[in-house]
Amino acid sequence: MTYILAIDQGTTSTRAIVFTTDPAGGVAARATAQEEFPQHYPASGWVEHDPADLWSTVVRTTRAAITRAGIETSEVAAIGITNQRETTLLWDRATGAPLHNAIVWQDRRTSDICGGLRDAGHEAMLTERTGLLIDPYFSGTKLKWLLDTIPGARARAEKGELAFGTVDAWLIWNLTGGRVHATDATNAARTLLYNIGNGGWDAEICGILGIPLALLPEVRDCAGDFGTTEPGLFGRAIPIRGVAGDQQAATVGQACFSPGMLKSTYGTGCFALLNTGRERVTSKHRLLTTIAYQLDGEPTYALEGSIFVAGAVVQWLRDGLGVIETSQSTQGLAEAADPGQDVVLVPAFTGLGAPYWRPDCRGAVFGLTRNSGPKELARAALESVGYQTRDLLEAMREDWGASGTEVLRVDGGMAANDWAMQFLADILGTEIDRPASTETTALGAAYLAALGAGVAPGPAEFQRGWALERRFEPTMGATERQSRYDRWQRAVAACLAV
Ligand code: G3P
Repeated sequence: MTYILAIDQGTTSTRAIVFTTDPAGGVAARATAQEEFPQHYPASGWVEHDPADLWSTVVRTTRAAITRAGIETSEVAAIGITNQRETTLLWDRATGAPLHNAIVWQDRRTSDICGGLRDAGHEAMLTERTGLLIDPYFSGTKLKWLLDTIPGARARAEKGELAFGTVDAWLIWNLTGGRVHATDATNAARTLLYNIGNGGWDAEICGILGIPLALLPEVRDCAGDFGTTEPGLFGRAIPIRGVAGDQQAATVGQACFSPGMLKSTYGTGCFALLNTGRERVTSKHRLLTTIAYQLDGEPTYALEGSIFVAGAVVQWLRDGLGVIETSQSTQGLAEAADPGQDVVLVPAFTGLGAPYWRPDCRGAVFGLTRNSGPKELARAALESVGYQTRDLLEAMREDWGASGTEVLRVDGGMAANDWAMQFLADILGTEIDRPASTETTALGAAYLAALGAGVAPGPAEFQRGWALERRFEPTMGATERQSRYDRWQRAVAACLAV
């Protein structure tokens, strides 16, 4: 038995999970520790994290998971890191001190910088090279903002005194005591600075954004050597052998290793990734082209649809409106909702992501009656996640062709909600497969680390270990499916028009 520790540094919490691996490719969770940390909203549309919180929660949860697993640090063969993507950090190489709070992926402060890039006619070139679109979501404009805003930062960056990183690079830097400044190809692919075709930082794009190349981390494979942890941290040095952005790690955890395989993760947002193999498919529907994983120097590409609000709409019902007690209660409420009402909720709280990419759009509720209440709102919230997923899948099917995308593998917190998953199957007209382990993000990071440490077999064996917990079959008639989706599209069009 070999132990692997996965660190999952997410948007609202940090988790560390000890997994066991066996030579046949089986990977199973043994002990978990989790900590939430504060979100900072310094202005409307701005979202920040304190870098010290990201780091300290990693240290504490890692220690706690090892203790809970009842093992010694010396028994951990490797660490795998997976992380919220795009979130941008800048720190001093000499002291390790951050120059600013981390600017979180959800943050919209660089809308004007994005508008300027678009007006200057850079979008086609940026999309061709990075696979992304011009949107505040990605790291590049956030880093430009930091360099433009912090006095003296750009001059110091040019002298090589500062380091940029997404959360993985920040954690690797700290875990290794500042010895390693590296990221992996999947995280690099979210920065708007990385050429996913030739696998290197793009000097021309960096020039346009005023980003000195000396700031950037070295880009490595997802399974490989990212250094070892400082011995004092956990009592003994542990090799770091796997790194991937959280949605890519979930793609690996779902064993979507063949072209045409598709997964959708329901966390704060929803991110659907379709493996397109060696083919770098350019979307005609404003989906992203990204790197699903990179092994032995070979990138495997994916089409990605990114929705900013999925689980967050349920949080809003609970914490914002206060009309539900717990996230889990939405299942019972949706089941009990009045079938005669047709409430549609468009949760465009921070704009709309794929395929619309309208940061300025805001949400709305349609179809309210005097009798509409928490049940109908809960049902509309869960349905909104299904409708948004259909928006993505329609685009993917047109970009890729329908074949191979008939079954969708789901994971993340909301995947546990049977009502939401049945509605998803119904509105997509597609079978939905829920795996035995919905901890697929951490599982993917653990597998990559095990692969990097040479204690796991190749992807084909790991794929055979993927186990189904439940398949949801579509039961809704084609006419109802279409008329409901048409209504959703009219609701979105109304939001976009306001
Ligand atoms: O692109 C953002 C994504 O990586 C965040 O994922 O699970 O932390 O909401 P999550």
